[in-house]
Amino acid sequence: MSTPLPNDPAEAIRRIVADIEPGLIEIRRDIHAHPELGFEEVRTSGVVARELEQLGIPHTRGIGKTGVVGLIEGGRPGPVLAIRADMDALPILEKTGLPFASTVEGKMHACGHDIHTTTLLGVATVLKRLAPSLAGTVKLVFQPAEEGIGGMAAMIADGVMDNPKIDLALGFHNQPGMAAGTFGFVRGPVLAASDRFEIVVRGKSGHAAYPHTVVDPIVAAAHLVTQLQTVVSREVDPMHPAVVTVGMLAGGTTHNIVPDSCVVKGTVRTLHKRARDIAQSAIERLCAGLDASMRTKCEVVYRRGVPALVNDDKMLDPTVAAVRAQFGDDAITQRQPQMGGEDFALMADLVPGFQLWVGSSQPGRRDALHNSAYQPDERCIGFGVQALSRAALEILA
Ligand code: NI
Repeated sequence: MSTPLPNDPAEAIRRIVADIEPGLIEIRRDIHAHPELGFEEVRTSGVVARELEQLGIPHTRGIGKTGVVGLIEGGRPGPVLAIRADMDALPILEKTGLPFASTVEGKMHACGHDIHTTTLLGVATVLKRLAPSLAGTVKLVFQPAEEGIGGMAAMIADGVMDNPKIDLALGFHNQPGMAAGTFGFVRGPVLAASDRFEIVVRGKSGHAAYPHTVVDPIVAAAHLVTQLQTVVSREVDPMHPAVVTVGMLAGGTTHNIVPDSCVVKGTVRTLHKRARDIAQSAIERLCAGLDASMRTKCEVVYRRGVPALVNDDKMLDPTVAAVRAQFGDDAITQRQPQMGGEDFALMADLVPGFQLWVGSSQPGRRDALHNSAYQPDERCIGFGVQALSRAALEILA
């Protein structure tokens, strides 16, 4: 690490990454072999803390239970840029057959968060070395529990946005639909707000042979499922993508009893706040209408989950320019938004944020996230480190 670096930032970053890449791949395989679920990332956060310690990067553990936050001060004053990676695994039985496959039965890094954690450690190494040329501070955010269990919310509750106050946020996700060495971006909303509803349709139970003596919640719930199909098709602006899916319909015990109630559960995905508000109020109104028309009493619980992740041009433009400067104009392409959710959205809701998509597919493989055989191309770690480090350099120029 003592040889002087070239002045060209692309070459300087490339050289550092070439040095550290084998070590990063070792770290990734170690994390991959020892997956931990949300808020249980004790070993993983220990690996992160150990590496930051070795780099001489001050850090704090226990932010959001198992989260870790590191700080790299630049040579000149400027804004605080957060770069965020998630660390948790999934409850999936791994079927890759790799020599470094999960050693914990029923748990697997099938969303590539092992790749993310390792990539951010690589970024930490590069930016620590290039710190004198940064105008501002980089906050390294290693987040627990991304998979729907509130890791980002916990970190925000523990003050991750403050001290020093985050001004800008950069996130990233590996994408097995894109080749390693390529990158993607989406302008505006990129991932959906993810809400859930639980409706108990209450009627009046009785003998199935005497329908005039009961209030049938099953017939009512069946009507409701059909009516819910009109929320997207008849109420939301067709230019605003939205999904309303009923995932559970449960009621009754046998053929000759009308039950007291029937449960309808589902999810709502939207990319725009207006569509989200319309969907919620429409669901509540249809339930009230059901009560009026079919004599039921619906109890509606609508829970808002993460908001839509909206990429801010203020972060998108310099990041895309940085990727092009590092890899050439063709390395990054515009992609379609997706209806999945991601809790980096909570941070990007507070400050201008952007999520870079890092291609991770191996030549000849057609992998998917959350799949038990997912095998990302490990070269995506080095490529991701280069892209994110260059982006930080451009944003804190
Ligand atoms: Ni993920």
